[in-house]
Amino acid sequence: MSELDALREQVFRVQVDLEHDLEGLSDPEALEAFRVEFLSRKGRLAQLFKVIGTLTPAERSEAGQLLNALKERAAASFSARRGVLDAAALAARTATERADLTLPGPCHRLGHLHLLTQVRQEIESIFLRLGFDVASGPEVETEYYNFEALNIPASHPARDEWDSFYLDDGRLLRAHTSPVQVRVMEKTPPPVRIVCPGRCYRRDSQDATHSPVFHQIELLWVEEGLTLANLKYVIELFVREFFGEGYDMRLSGDFFPFTEPSVQVHMRPRGQTKWLELGGAGMVNPAVLTGVGYDPERVTGFAFGFGLERMAMLRHRIEDIRTFLANDLRFITQF
Ligand code: DAH
Repeated sequence: MSELDALREQVFRVQVDLEHDLEGLSDPEALEAFRVEFLSRKGRLAQLFKVIGTLTPAERSEAGQLLNALKERAAASFSARRGVLDAAALAARTATERADLTLPGPCHRLGHLHLLTQVRQEIESIFLRLGFDVASGPEVETEYYNFEALNIPASHPARDEWDSFYLDDGRLLRAHTSPVQVRVMEKTPPPVRIVCPGRCYRRDSQDATHSPVFHQIELLWVEEGLTLANLKYVIELFVREFFGEGYDMRLSGDFFPFTEPSVQVHMRPRGQTKWLELGGAGMVNPAVLTGVGYDPERVTGFAFGFGLERMAMLRHRIEDIRTFLANDLRFITQF
């Protein structure tokens, strides 16, 4: 019998053994043992491939075809059997294991925006709807923008009110958002309609209503023909949108170097007696308008600066401004 004939016979035998063995396999260990015996690098198929080397070149091609066909069929039968066993194993598991659908799932705690951020975004969106733009300016400001351009010269006693933290180069952490008014007007011809929310700094000692770091929102509207009545209307509208119905508001005289006349804005829940302060406001001082190159004979404007913390405190009855900085989840998660 030639080598090739012997090979043919062996291929046939391996084929028969292999199919027969596979039929009887019933668990993963047996399947693995089968794989090692037949299909591994030293398995029976690999042994057969070695015979090719002993054949004549003419016989090799037939032997190669024979062996490759065997190998393919073996691989296909093997994976088919594995599929059957896997399916059987899964069926066995689902028959015995039962999912408990009443078990609570893993609980992911979702974060959310900080109350101050929510309040800022809400106020921005109220004014965006009224046709205002949102502007911003630097927190490290020059004395010029924080004071002089707002009609507060170096000698003016009102500077004490806005005492802040100075850097070595003479700049300071801005004490209010009013400098943004000037920065915007310098770059934009009238009409101007903006709100500017942002962080401010004051050399105040901390107590329930004061904090060296806090936030304001500034508003500025400059155009032809604006009067204090327009200012009052805009604030009323804002109070109604932000706090809801049922509040009264009041303007009373005040003084700011950058407005003339200047007012203080108060509100209170209807029926109560105590007025709560929102902040300052007024008609932009002609000196400020002239300083940015506007003609105060042609345009007038009004502005306000309200504290964001204060508005959040009024709306949510928060008693102490320090809770905003305490980073206490018991506070933060309430809103
Ligand atoms: N900048 C003032 C402050 O921080 C508040 C203020 C008052 C802003 C009057 C204004 C205004 O725009 O018109 O105390």
